[in-house]
Amino acid sequence: RIIHLADYRRTDFVLERVDLTFELDPTETRVEARLIFHRREGADPAAPLVLDGDELTLAGLLFDQVEMEPSRYDATPDSLTIRDLPASEPFEITITTVINPEANTQLMGLYRTNGVYCTQCEAEGFRRITYFPDRPDVLAVYTVNIIADKASCPLLLSNGNFLGGAGYGEGKHFAAWFDPHPKPSYLFALVAGDLGVVEDTFVTMSGREVALRIYVEHGKEPRAAYAMDALKRSMRWDEEAFGCEYDLDIFMVVAVSDFNMGAMENKGLNVFNDKYVLADPETATDQDYANIEAIIAHEYFHNWTGNRVTCRDWFQLCLKEGLTVYRDHEFSADQRSRAVKRIAEVRHLKSEQFPEDAGPLAHPVRPVKYREINNFYTTTVYEKGSEVTRMIATLVGRETFRKGMDLYFERHDGDAATIEDFVKCFEAASGRDLTQFSLWYHQAGTPLVTVSSAYDAGKGVLTLSLEQTIPPTPGQAVKEPMHIPLRFGLLLADGSEAVPSAVEGAEVTGDVLHLTARRQTVTFSGIASRPVVSLNRGFSAPINLHFEQAPADLAHIARNDSDLFARWQALTDLALPNLVAAARNARAGTPVEPDAMLADTLLAIAADETLEPAFRAQALALPSESDIARELASNNDPDAIRAGREAVFAFVAGRDPAVFAALTERHRTEGPFAPDAASAGRRALRNAALAYLAVAEGTPARAAGAFAAADNMTDLSAALGVLAHRFPDAPETAEALEAFRARFADNALVLDKWFSIQATIPGAGALDRVKRLMGSPHFTMANPNRVRALVGTFAFANPTGFNRADGAGYRFLAEQILAIDPKNPQLAARILTAMRSWRALEEVRADHALNALRSISNAGKLSSDVADIVERMLKG
Ligand code: ARG
Ligand code: ZN
Repeated sequence: RIIHLADYRRTDFVLERVDLTFELDPTETRVEARLIFHRREGADPAAPLVLDGDELTLAGLLFDQVEMEPSRYDATPDSLTIRDLPASEPFEITITTVINPEANTQLMGLYRTNGVYCTQCEAEGFRRITYFPDRPDVLAVYTVNIIADKASCPLLLSNGNFLGGAGYGEGKHFAAWFDPHPKPSYLFALVAGDLGVVEDTFVTMSGREVALRIYVEHGKEPRAAYAMDALKRSMRWDEEAFGCEYDLDIFMVVAVSDFNMGAMENKGLNVFNDKYVLADPETATDQDYANIEAIIAHEYFHNWTGNRVTCRDWFQLCLKEGLTVYRDHEFSADQRSRAVKRIAEVRHLKSEQFPEDAGPLAHPVRPVKYREINNFYTTTVYEKGSEVTRMIATLVGRETFRKGMDLYFERHDGDAATIEDFVKCFEAASGRDLTQFSLWYHQAGTPLVTVSSAYDAGKGVLTLSLEQTIPPTPGQAVKEPMHIPLRFGLLLADGSEAVPSAVEGAEVTGDVLHLTARRQTVTFSGIASRPVVSLNRGFSAPINLHFEQAPADLAHIARNDSDLFARWQALTDLALPNLVAAARNARAGTPVEPDAMLADTLLAIAADETLEPAFRAQALALPSESDIARELASNNDPDAIRAGREAVFAFVAGRDPAVFAALTERHRTEGPFAPDAASAGRRALRNAALAYLAVAEGTPARAAGAFAAADNMTDLSAALGVLAHRFPDAPETAEALEAFRARFADNALVLDKWFSIQATIPGAGALDRVKRLMGSPHFTMANPNRVRALVGTFAFANPTGFNRADGAGYRFLAEQILAIDPKNPQLAARILTAMRSWRALEEVRADHALNALRSISNAGKLSSDVADIVERMLKG
């Protein structure tokens, strides 16, 4: 069944209040839901009340406290329909269901993880707990009573403020919670169990004290300190940047080890994948710390963008997700290095969202139809959604953006809103018409902007010719031209910038050029000498830019642009043609010719001590194999791509190894480990240099030495990565892998790294290695993090291993998908999207991939999650 945006209509009944009582039991939890409704004014007086369910059995139904006659209702596992309800006065329905948390392997609704009861209700998990109008535009105030065994569940948590608790019969106790803020069911949460806690307080800008609690497994409390620090910084930042103050007496975070996604913003009670809470220097990398900071912030920021203002329907998902990602990006940029953060964001956008937008799963930021909403928690909705929000800020300016946000909260606090509501706030704040701009929400596909430039020295005029095309995507063959904001600068030979006396052919506001037509010719007058055009600075628009610039011009930008992001972008543009040519040569069996200018520019930047180390580390990371594949666009041979890239990498490594050796000496971090961005940058630079040195030297000795000397997880896992990926068969590698395993055998999150590092060892042997690792006593299919670490990482991040020419990688994935699907459809569907670029493969591989997809599609009983993905991949 397909759900269409156009079919949206309000409910016939208004839900006023929700009272829930849970009697927790591992296999037979009783849920009593007392719901007060009234018929909406103007609604059909004969309309029945239809509530959603999912695998439910009804154990009792009362109408105004009296048992309801069976003739007045129909109950099936997925719905409860009640007839003959009052025309206008309020009435109470009391529903009893009995559910089995232990058997809930989908991890949606109420389930148990390591003896802890927890819930995940977004998007449609609440209907697995009780019959309910389970849609985001039904907002109500909730009271929650939890009754449970005192010994195994000393802790009983739900949303809002704690009302009270006491003993309850033999060996049991209860707790009551009240959330005064009306909310949709997807923000409901319950946690019960025996956990350790880290406590702190936060005083809000109006002087209210808020209790902060992070709950983790006993013994792991010290590893929650960084998350707590990040939480307090997030709360302060949201006050300062957006005037958003926290609105309950308590804010709680619970870390659980079995979780389908990153984390969930339930009101006052965020539930997290423990991977995004737990960190200490011995077990977490700098990347882990940065992720924790970003995700703690993201979920906290949802309190206003998501919870206080929620979504009218799931088509509006980007209303909360795109906006909240934008907010967490800005937070991290303020806490760390803005340019380096931006580079990391764009890398991620290009490697994840661009392929999605170019393949069969492409969809608009705001889709108009879906079959399975779980499959729309995508990088398009999240990351492209964030970029669209960023473009609004670029178009209206920073201060006006803040005014628009203030207006959004003023107009819509307590609402279930739409994208149109959101955009109107910025139109009102800026006086700008955003109609054409809104196409970014509706047209899928990454726009391609083709640019050429000409300079007339006699007239002092620079002419830019720009053309935009938006590729066809499933269901959208023809596209309208979009409003594309391009930040730019005109760099002169001395590094200064030309200021034109006049611009014609496009609106220019500040340093933003507005491309709005399919074709535009823009002239800049009063330019005394030929400038180098630095275009799409800061990645102001999420586009593919084809601008043939001379290598010397790119090198000029790479060394001189005032915008660090533009410098990194120019390096990428300098490297990509060389890597693409290398891949073509490798495919044809002709010698690869690495570019000396590229190597020298990289080395100059690496050695430039005026540049921050984190930036230099980003500069040294050549475009990835998937970046090259995207550039090649079709008929891809992952083995040739890798071979070409390896040749270029080796050339850079061998060009002047002394530069890399000097970096590893100069940038040692002294003293105790600190996770701050500057220290992390130095470690990143040293580890980038280590990878080049290892290749230049051709022996595992240096990496083995780094492995032995490492006193933190960043350096340890980086050294292990170099050993495993560069010297997979060396005895040093086997020893290091075993030492790592033995040392961290009881730490699940670190073991995940051990699996991932091995899952990404390139080459045709990877599949057998992965199969062997699945037989390891450490492996389990029951833990989503473990499955993602091994099977997911292999499929997503090992191009040569997964795309083996004989198709065995695809057949393996198909088997795994079919094995995972009956237990955890969301996990299966997510991992299957690793095949989203299958049509861009060369014929033989594409044929194998097609057969593997067909084998899934023909397998019979599939979840709607997997069926939806596989059908779209076969069709699109
Ligand atoms: N709202 C959560 C977040 O982004 C993620 C929920 C994901 N839900 C899902 N069904 N995949 O913070
Ligand atoms: Zn979110």
